[in-house]
Amino acid sequence: MPDTLTITDNRTGKTYEIPIQDGTIRAMDLRQIKVSDDDFGLMSYDPAFKNTACCRSAITLIDGERGILRYRGYPIEQLAEKSTFLEVSYLLLHGELPNKAQYDGWVDEITHHTYVHEFLKEAMRGFRYDAHPMGKLVSMLGALSTFYPESKKVRDPEVRKRHIIKAIAKMPTLAAWAYRHSLGQPYVYPDNELSYVGNFMAMLFKLAEPKYEPHPVLERALDVLFILHADHEQNCSANAMRSVGSSEADPYVSLAAASAALYGPLHGGANEAVLRMLQAIGSVDRIPEFIEGVKNGKGRLMGFGHRVYKNYDPRARVIKNLAHEVFEVTGKNPLLDIAVELEKIALEDEYFVKRRLYPNVDFYSGLIYQAMGFPTEMFPVLFAIPRTTGWLAQWQEMLTDPEQKIARPRQVYVGAGERDYVPMDARG
Ligand code: SDX
Repeated sequence: MPDTLTITDNRTGKTYEIPIQDGTIRAMDLRQIKVSDDDFGLMSYDPAFKNTACCRSAITLIDGERGILRYRGYPIEQLAEKSTFLEVSYLLLHGELPNKAQYDGWVDEITHHTYVHEFLKEAMRGFRYDAHPMGKLVSMLGALSTFYPESKKVRDPEVRKRHIIKAIAKMPTLAAWAYRHSLGQPYVYPDNELSYVGNFMAMLFKLAEPKYEPHPVLERALDVLFILHADHEQNCSANAMRSVGSSEADPYVSLAAASAALYGPLHGGANEAVLRMLQAIGSVDRIPEFIEGVKNGKGRLMGFGHRVYKNYDPRARVIKNLAHEVFEVTGKNPLLDIAVELEKIALEDEYFVKRRLYPNVDFYSGLIYQAMGFPTEMFPVLFAIPRTTGWLAQWQEMLTDPEQKIARPRQVYVGAGERDYVPMDARG
């Protein structure tokens, strides 16, 4: 049987053979289906792109039915167990795991680009101490763009490489400075003797001690969390990165747009919303009342559900196990008992089972962040740092894909028909 779709337009009786490739048809192949020569032709209508592939990508595979996640073909469980975040960032951007020389060179480049221009301190001073760190981060990325006008040359591979490295290297510095600004504490400059995550922890938590020594269990836990959050194919913020980047805007303002999309509570802001939800529930015996409220439309069970996963998010499973390792060091987060019981009840409740709602990456991550001493509003920032690599990999793939051009969806117009201007004194 041929890989084609035969469409009969019952308005005209005409039939059309539409090729099927990779389980899709090209939306542009619908435009030939017309009722007359001056007809624009058919479009597909897909609000929120629930059934639309915007690109061909080789970066990340998600199998929502089976709860599978792979970066460049490698299962997330293996990368979380055996790799490091910087190795995974190399993999996502280059398509292959690095050999020793490539890895050492990559780490060296990232390590030596962690400083940011001193003028950014002035920009940070413009925020109130209690400004949300995601608002600061989005703004700092826009400000960073103004220091690197060269980065506008997005079609130059050498320029792209230089600024991909700068962006990955500087995100932890901007995030740490946003945190220190909220505490009124002096900024801590990068320590090149520490790992990517260890240096981030030092810039966050170092006080009067001469040398900050990250706790190895917490440093490894944060590195694993960064691996798990590095990319997730065409999620809302990746789509923002691709869309803004398709206009040939520079990578820093494109990252600002992606970070803004991630900030939303339905996306990367969910980890913050989960903690506030658990705190509002307050105790295990109040879970049934909360669940009933959700089922009656009073809000959502944050950290549950996913557009693609209709099974357990494999990242949530890794994070749940990681939590126990972290709590060995930090002491158990008392909210864990509420989260575990909430998950157990939800997974047995018909409302959630029928809708195939399972814990996602955000359900347990906040418990670890809180136990490590991060304030709740820093949680989405901890998502944005590793996801910078994924956004940049998607951006790079978009720019080098000959099929891609500036993103500009169409619409179905349902507004008023043509009408004449009405002078003010003639209006009702
Ligand atoms: C991330 O896309 C990605 O890959 C994102 C991400 C990544 O790594 O980039 O994985 C990260 O964003 C994870 C998701 C974090 N968000 C949350 O945890 C917020 C709570 N979850 C949802 O709001 C929701 O599940 C979404 C936004 C994640 C997905 O929404 P969809 O696919 O548009 O599903 P929907 O809103 O159409 O819901 C389908 C049904 C609805 O019920 P009915 O109208 O059919 O009666 O399920 C219900 C929804 O009301 N539903 C929920 C629910 N999620 C969906 N009901 C209660 N609690 C929830 N969490």
